[in-house]
Amino acid sequence: MAKRPLIETAVFPVAGRGTRFLPATKASPKEMLPVVDKPLIQYAVEEALAAGARRLVFITGASKRAIEDHFDSDRELEGLLKSQGKSELVKQLHSVLPSYATCIYIRQPAPLGLGHAVLCARPAVGNEPFFVHLADDLIAAERPCLSQMAEVYAAKGASVIGCETVPRKDTDKYGIVAVEAPGQTARIRRIVEKPKPAVAPSNLAVVGRYLLSPAIFDHLARIGAGAGGEIQLTDGIARLLQEEAVYAHKFEGTRYDCGSKLGYLQATVAYALAHPALGKNFRAHLRQVVDGPRASRKAR
Ligand code: G1P
Repeated sequence: MAKRPLIETAVFPVAGRGTRFLPATKASPKEMLPVVDKPLIQYAVEEALAAGARRLVFITGASKRAIEDHFDSDRELEGLLKSQGKSELVKQLHSVLPSYATCIYIRQPAPLGLGHAVLCARPAVGNEPFFVHLADDLIAAERPCLSQMAEVYAAKGASVIGCETVPRKDTDKYGIVAVEAPGQTARIRRIVEKPKPAVAPSNLAVVGRYLLSPAIFDHLARIGAGAGGEIQLTDGIARLLQEEAVYAHKFEGTRYDCGSKLGYLQATVAYALAHPALGKNFRAHLRQVVDGPRASRKAR
C-alpha cells in the first residue's frame, strides 16, 4: 500500500479583502494576482502539494469566485484550444490541479479574523495535523517551505510555525515569537500579535506558514476578539503552547510580501529573472532600463 502522506490537508484562508492592494483587489481576489504567469494561489497550492497535501481547503469570502473557477476544469476553453490544435496549452490547463487533489470550499460567514477563518476549516480537517498557508507570503526556496516544516514535524511531532527575523521597527506588522534557545528550530515560549517595537519580545516574525495540531481548534473556538478586534490565529497558538510544544522554524528561502505593492513588484522581478523561458530577455531589458541603451549594448 502506498505510504500515507504525513500531512494530508492544507488550509488556504482567502477571505481577506486585500485592502493594501486596492484598487486592483476591489472586484478580484488578491490571491489571483499573477506573478509572471501564475496566480499567487497557484504557487500556494503547488507548495502544499509538494509537501504531501492532497485535500485543499479554501476559506473564501465575498468576490472570491475566481479562485474556484481557477481550480475547476473549463471544458469550453479546453474544447476551443483542442480545436485550434493547441495541445501544449491544454496540458498546461490540466497541470493547474492534479487529479489526486480534492478542493473543498468553505465560506467564512463574516470577516472575523484569521483565527476564525482557520476555525471554519475544522469540519474539513478533522482530528489531524494540517498546514495553513497564506498565499500573499510568496516564498522562493529550493525545498518548498511547507516541506521544510513537514520535516521538522516528522522529527518533533509537534506544531511548527514558519518564521524569519525582521527589522525591529516592523514588529507591529507580524506575529512575533520569543523562543527558548537560539537556532534554526526552537521551541516557542511566547507569541504576540503585532506588538509595538518597544514591547516586542524579539524580532523573530511569523510568516504565513503554519503546521498545526488539531488541538488549536478548541482554543480558537474559545478565544474572543484580540488585536484589531479580530479572532487572531496568534492568540489561539498562544493558548496551544501552554499545553503542547510549538516550534518556530527559520525556513531557508526568500519571502516576498505580495500583499504589499513593493513586495509584489520585487517578487515579479525575481520570478521573471528565474523564469526558464523569459529570464534571459527580461534580464537584458532590466539592464537597459536601469543603465540605459549604451550600457546594455556593452554588456552583450
Ligand atoms: C497574519 C498573522 C500574523 C503573521 C502574518 C504573516 O497577519 O496574523 O501573525 O505574522 O499574517 O504574513 P496579516 O498579514 O494577515 O495582518
